[in-house]
Formats: sequence, C-alpha cells, structure tokens
Amino acid sequence: MRLESVTSKTERLLKEQLYRPDNKFFLAELQDHHPPTYLHTLEVAKYAVSLGFELGLNSEQMDYLCRGALRHDQGKTVITTKLIDNPNKLAVWERYVMQVHVNEGFSSLRDFKPYKTPWQVLEIVLKHHNYIKDGYPPEEKWRSLLNELPGYRPDPPGITDLAAIVALADMFEALLARRAYKEPKSLPEARGIIQNEYTGPKTYINQMSKLILAYQGQLKI
Ligand SMILES: [Fe+2]
Ligand SMILES: [Fe+2]
Repeated sequence: MRLESVTSKTERLLKEQLYRPDNKFFLAELQDHHPPTYLHTLEVAKYAVSLGFELGLNSEQMDYLCRGALRHDQGKTVITTKLIDNPNKLAVWERYVMQVHVNEGFSSLRDFKPYKTPWQVLEIVLKHHNYIKDGYPPEEKWRSLLNELPGYRPDPPGITDLAAIVALADMFEALLARRAYKEPKSLPEARGIIQNEYTGPKTYINQMSKLILAYQGQLKI
C-alpha cells in the first residue's frame, strides 16, 4: 500500500476513534493521572494502526487494534507517578509493582460496566508485554484469563495477532521517546535493539520502522 494512503487512513481512523465517548473517557483518565503516558498511548496507536493498514487488516480488526492500542497502558492509572517517573534502576519489587499495570488494566476494563471492552481488545491489553523473552504475564496465566471471557476464541487460524502489533509499537515508542530518566534512541538504534528482543513476527520490524520514519516530525494528532 502507498505510504500516503497508510498515513492518511491512520489519521482518519485515529481522529474518529478519539471522538468515541469510551475512548475519550479512558484517555481522560490516563491524561489526568500521567500526561506522558497519555502521549505515549497516542503514539503507540499511530504506529500500530499504520502497520495494521499496511498489513491489510479489515475494518473490524482495525477497530480492535486501535482501541487496544489506546487502552494498552490503562492499568498505569493505579501505579504512582513517582514510580512511573523513577529515574533510577528499579528494584525487583518496584518492577513487580510496575508489571501489575497489565493485569490491572485487563481486569478494570473487563469489569467496567459503563463501557464494555470486547475480548479482542482485552487480549491486546493483557498480552502487550508478551513479545519479549521474559514477557509477562506467563502464557498459562493469560490463557486462563482469556478463556474465562465470554465468546473468546483462542488463536483462530488466519487471524492476525493484534497484540503482537501493539507490543511492537510500544517497544518502538518507548525507545524513541525522551523520558524523565532517559534520552531518546535513534530509529536505527531502536530497530537494532528490537531485532534482538522482539519475539513477534520479525517482518513487522522493518515495516513499522519505515512507517515511523515517514511520521517523524510530521503527523500531529
Ligand atoms: Fe505497558
Ligand atoms: Fe505502553
């Protein structure tokens, strides 16, 4: 697909999704708690959605992908900003607390009645840190949580693993961003690190990095 077509479709879908009351609600909660995580989320959604269009996903999958990307770090709202912004190497217990954002995001979205989150979106939230060697939560844990969701269909053949796309976008954004405690990496540096660490489909890495290159300093949402 032509690059301009991917970028304009991405911009359109994100703008559409940002008007949805459920997305507005969850994003406002995140922005109130920790504005950098909110901005991170928008970038992750932009990268993930771009790759989704590039891969030719259908409109239903694109909707899940976008909502999953926008909610992937919702669980950070229970982590103190002091810990999120901690400039030092995290102690073991602090890393553990930080990892809680995955289960917390999953269960709070699953149980939140005013805006129901479909299992396809919950799956993305639950697995977005699962595509590295020591990913979490462990497979038996996420499988048992997903199996309890009404209507859940595990690994349907021929269906793209949307969580793998969001996980990759998340890794790129985390490396490319400036944080209170670190300088940004260049795109080639980030790609090199991800090449070693990402356990999802390797072909996505090059595709996503080309899309990011096209965006750098451009699209503002
Ligand atoms: Fe996360
Ligand atoms: Fe994230």
